[in-house]
Amino acid sequence: MCGIVGYIGQRDCTDVLMQGLEKLEYRGYDSAGIAVFEKTGIKTVKTKGKLADMRHKLDIEGSPVGHCGIGHTRWATHGEPSDINSHPHTNGRVTIVHNGIIENYIELKEFLTEKGYTFTSQTDTEVVACLLDYYYSERNPLRAITETLKELQGSYALGIIFRDFPDRVYATRKESPLIVGIGENEYFIGSDIPAFLKYTKKYVLLDDNDIVCMKTDGIEYYDVHGIPEQKEISIAEWDVEQAQKCGYPHFMLKEIHEQPGIVAKTMESCCRDGVPYFENIGLTDDMLRDVKRVFIVACGTAMHAGIIARYAIEQLARVPVTVEVASEFRYMDPIVGEGDLVIVVSQSGETADTKAGLELAKERGAKTLAVVNVKYSAIARQADMYIHTLAGPEIAVASTKAYTAQISVMYLLAFRFAFARGRIDLQRMKELTAQALSAPAAIQRVIDRKNECQFIASKLVNADNLFFIGRSFDYALSLEGSLKLKEISYIHSEAYAAGELKHGTISLIEPGIPVITVATQANVLAKTISNMEEVKARGGMIIAVCRKGTVFAENSVDLTLEIDADLDDMLVPLPTVCALQLIAYYTSVLRGIDPDKPRNLAKAVTTE
Ligand code: G6P
Repeated sequence: MCGIVGYIGQRDCTDVLMQGLEKLEYRGYDSAGIAVFEKTGIKTVKTKGKLADMRHKLDIEGSPVGHCGIGHTRWATHGEPSDINSHPHTNGRVTIVHNGIIENYIELKEFLTEKGYTFTSQTDTEVVACLLDYYYSERNPLRAITETLKELQGSYALGIIFRDFPDRVYATRKESPLIVGIGENEYFIGSDIPAFLKYTKKYVLLDDNDIVCMKTDGIEYYDVHGIPEQKEISIAEWDVEQAQKCGYPHFMLKEIHEQPGIVAKTMESCCRDGVPYFENIGLTDDMLRDVKRVFIVACGTAMHAGIIARYAIEQLARVPVTVEVASEFRYMDPIVGEGDLVIVVSQSGETADTKAGLELAKERGAKTLAVVNVKYSAIARQADMYIHTLAGPEIAVASTKAYTAQISVMYLLAFRFAFARGRIDLQRMKELTAQALSAPAAIQRVIDRKNECQFIASKLVNADNLFFIGRSFDYALSLEGSLKLKEISYIHSEAYAAGELKHGTISLIEPGIPVITVATQANVLAKTISNMEEVKARGGMIIAVCRKGTVFAENSVDLTLEIDADLDDMLVPLPTVCALQLIAYYTSVLRGIDPDKPRNLAKAVTTE
């Protein structure tokens, strides 16, 4: 999704904006631009393409020289990716960058056209620049913004500069992330903290429709009516190193390697005296005992973490769990309300559909719990209760460490749930917790054998289609392994519940087609093996991801990847997913794709 940066201070603004945009590249984008106040006025440089194209254009057109400006990476929604549709957009005396969608932009455009305005781009953003210009009079930018906000419907984060004020950057937001960075006599805006982390760890969160005015000599905050207000300064826990590659060729590989540490840290933060503990966030045993049903609402990889959670919670606590894709949940008129616990899972904490699902659940009287990686995000702030996954900044678009952190939390939640409902005793809860806390060592063992994953990837690299199959937890993992592989290798892949294969899909099995069979669960192993053999009989290439020592019939498997883990079957997904992530990573790299920035995908999807 789009990335916004803004700066005012003494540094070279172009440099600060470009470096900030680099840090936001992970969000996904297809064009970029900056606008900087030079001595003679605002200079805007923008282009379709990546930041490398932008740097090239800056070399040709000359980098703007100044100390105040705004920048943007755009992920096209209204209007194709093109130089003209790239941000910043100027109309009249106003130049802006925007993230989000203005839902009533067509009506606003008609109104402004009647007033004599013309437009050069197809974007909803230019309409906002124009509306700001329409309301700008008597050199009063604040009034222009408050009047404009009254008219806007939809979601937005806006960085705004007014031609008459070369020493100010204004910003505002609603339902779209925007954070203010506070330096020494310098100020920043960014869609995420890494955009300015190099310069300051101090940040301020804006509430919906707060307005900020950053000047060289200070910063002012206003509410939607233009009334001055005070905001609290927080200190980011992330450090610069966490947001850098640190010698790894890609963020994705670095993030996969971070998993043993992250899983350990996240689990420890949720335990006290060797057992899961959530009373500190308001989630008491009484509450868990009284829950009638659990809904897990999320998107993408976070939703797949929810499926693991479903198996764990239902098996241990015997409470019904439904996992819903957030974009469906919000419009399906779900039967949810008092007595239900709705768990929303999100790395970014900004995903529009997940956030809407959370709001709906709250409206209908359910208790809400967020499992989120970004502490200052909207979802973390809105939910009744909040568990912070300690994965640190996840930069690669394909989520890895956030997923393992999410399932780590979910396991602990399942143990506590089961204990609170009298399904397991304290001793069993302690045993399960101790096992979970030992999972990082098993994850490390998978990472240490990454060459085997690389070898498997070399067998997939020329495939046009492939399948993942598994049962129970292995099915949940298959869904995630398949998503990971297809999103970064562009090979078509489908995940199937192994038992469902013969209900149609087996007709697609042709000689040589790779079928990655996840077979780690003892209670369904025999069944999975027979599904595997059905594939083999039709010439499929079987790659079995199984527990160490699993015995298969002769010639029934082409390649085997063994997971060496002394863990209860339920917990084996923790190391196993790491193997699937590595297979996806190496397949992507061997196909010459940058796994950190797969085409068309965005890291944080802040629009529907
Ligand atoms: C996007 C990302 C996925 C992610 C999903 C949910 O589609 O590309 O990797 O799983 O959003 O994001 P969230 O931040 O809510 O976990």
